[in-house]
Amino acid sequence: MKIPAIKTTHKIIFGDSRYMDEIEDESVHLVVTSPPYPMIQIWDDLFKSLDDRIREKWEELEQTTDENEKERIAYQIYELMHEVLLPVWKELYRVLIPGGIACINIGDATRKVNGIFRLFPNHSKIIEHFEKIGFVTLPYILWKKPTNKPNAFLGSGFLPTNAYVTLDVEYILIFRKGGPRRFKPKDPYRYASKYTKEERDRWFSQIWNDIRGVRQNHSALARRTAAYPEEIPRRLIRMFSIIGDTVLDPFLGTGTTTKVAIELKRNSIGYEIDPNLEPVIKEKIGANQRRIDSPFEVRFIHRGQ
Ligand SMILES: C[S@@+](CC[C@H](N)C(=O)[O-])C[C@H]1O[C@@H](n2cnc3c(N)ncnc32)[C@H](O)[C@@H]1O
Repeated sequence: MKIPAIKTTHKIIFGDSRYMDEIEDESVHLVVTSPPYPMIQIWDDLFKSLDDRIREKWEELEQTTDENEKERIAYQIYELMHEVLLPVWKELYRVLIPGGIACINIGDATRKVNGIFRLFPNHSKIIEHFEKIGFVTLPYILWKKPTNKPNAFLGSGFLPTNAYVTLDVEYILIFRKGGPRRFKPKDPYRYASKYTKEERDRWFSQIWNDIRGVRQNHSALARRTAAYPEEIPRRLIRMFSIIGDTVLDPFLGTGTTTKVAIELKRNSIGYEIDPNLEPVIKEKIGANQRRIDSPFEVRFIHRGQ
């Protein structure tokens, strides 16, 4: 079906997404995001900077010698990290339209606390929080990461019983605000956004094992993005939005969601707390080479300026 050419707009806001005052209620159609993962070491400092209670608990953990107490404090830190994410999830409920969808890419964490290896099941904590807010939980996707370390099994070699299962999947949790979204009959943008049968069969099955990883790069900045190949937002945006919709990423990182939204003719809004990522985002979305007649407009907004 033919649709008129559209110009999309993309806002990149450098600020904390626990408050998204720049976005009106019920104005976003889809959320695609990957938050910092609680209890994964590379995000420890960020969580400490976002909540003093987390910083204090880490200090307490380091000073305690009592083993049971250490276990208890580690669990409190895990819960506090999820509490830091909670205001963002509440904002998503406010800004999504009825029937709008939120896709959250999250991995669980394993970590030794007090010398004992254990799992922190981030995905289950996020489901619990979204349900408390009022979201409807939909069947989720397990994204099986291509393993680049086939021998990285933890535990006791080939002898039962003390080996651990490797964490080689991430979750793409899918939530909806209320019942299914409504469209006007024969909406031309919806028809123009159709996927093929082959795409439908592959994308709507629960295990995705055909996504290639992004090349490993060891700079601290690049490590944050290594876990988010473009193919993930590309599929999710095509599965759960139509041309002309607005897609939000409250944890934008290097701007992968914006890049794919531009490519798929969706509008977008991204929040990123770290202003040092501005040049990386600009490079990724080609903001420096844009022509005056280009089919999209990008605005970089620094809060308080
Ligand atoms: C896992 S990374 C996202 C990677 C991203 N998918 C990409 O393509 O690069 C999470 C990002 O969220 C940012 N962040 C964490 N807490 C935030 C907050 N409260 N508000 C805005 N950004 C935040 C971090 O600085 C980090 O860049």
